[in-house]
Amino acid sequence: MVYPRSIDPRRIVRIVDNKFEASNIRTIFFEDALCRKARPGQYLMAWIPGVDEVPLSLSTIDHNGLSAVTVKAVGKGTEALCEMRSGEYLGVRGPYGNWFNLVKGRIMIVGGGTGLAPLLPLTKALVELGSEVSFIAGGATKDDVLHLSEIQMLLNEQRHNLIVTTDDGSYGRGGTATDAFQDLLEGEENFDMIYSCGPEPMMRKVFDLSESHGLQLQVCMERIVHCSLGLCGSCVIGRFRVCKDGLILSSKQLREVADEFGVFKRGLDGRKTYF
Ligand SMILES: Cc1cc2nc3c(=O)[nH]c(=O)nc-3n(C[C@H](O)[C@H](O)[C@H](O)COP(=O)(O)OP(=O)(O)OC[C@H]3O[C@@H](n4cnc5c(N)ncnc54)[C@H](O)[C@@H]3O)c2cc1C
Ligand code: FES
Repeated sequence: MVYPRSIDPRRIVRIVDNKFEASNIRTIFFEDALCRKARPGQYLMAWIPGVDEVPLSLSTIDHNGLSAVTVKAVGKGTEALCEMRSGEYLGVRGPYGNWFNLVKGRIMIVGGGTGLAPLLPLTKALVELGSEVSFIAGGATKDDVLHLSEIQMLLNEQRHNLIVTTDDGSYGRGGTATDAFQDLLEGEENFDMIYSCGPEPMMRKVFDLSESHGLQLQVCMERIVHCSLGLCGSCVIGRFRVCKDGLILSSKQLREVADEFGVFKRGLDGRKTYF
């Protein structure tokens, strides 16, 4: 998806709220006319003044209100962003990238860790469309299952199904999100579309399981994103530039890059890094 330059200028937005999610995770709410028009699956480049610029998925898209990103502090950029308070200012570019193709029908969503962030606006849109949503939300511990109460609220109807998994068994079902996905498929559940976002090896397992059951998949891919404009090549997978051709890649596109997807990516220095 190519955007006219006129709609992606860098701009300064005011932080309206910094919500505690877990000890190292915050949701940063801000007001911005362009992010308000974003579609589920899109991301922005957040510039933390004097520190760095980092890519982040939009976790809240309210067409009439606030937008938000949910950030895990893993380094200097994300740590500084998590510490920013209401009333402080942030630079943003975007929204960038393509978006999830919304399908009405029986839907399965498999998410893990910070990958749950873009799945929140997706779930909202699918529920509004009238889809029947099964959602497997995984994390290492309960704290890592982002947006759990928001997801529970959205799926608070009998036709939906929410399964929470934690690696340490501290909440929900013990084990991984992909174990739960495999069990559902072996129980001969059928779905019109699978959506997934999370660590790439997790999405690879979701891809392999979907392929073996003849199910269509859309993944929200994260690679190293620097320019976000298709110029620097840091985000490349096969012939795709994730920042521009993605973040959302379909089953057909994933088949093309099957020797790379979940196997290796380009590291910060551009070299191959194996998962
Ligand atoms: C499209 C996209 C969407 C993302 N959405 C989210 C989100 O919603 N929430 C969230 O918490 N995180 C998200 N991330 C990851 C986030 O961008 C990185 O954690 C962040 O850039 C790290 O920067 P840092 O300065 O804090 O840490 P650094 O010390 O610079 O790096 C720590 C680690 O983060 C990763 N990283 C560093 N720079 C980048 C980069 N430019 N692009 C991708 N990964 C990088 C590397 O693995 C690195 O080892 C997303 C990444 C991408 C590419
Ligand atoms: S981030 Fe530069 S080409 Fe994708």
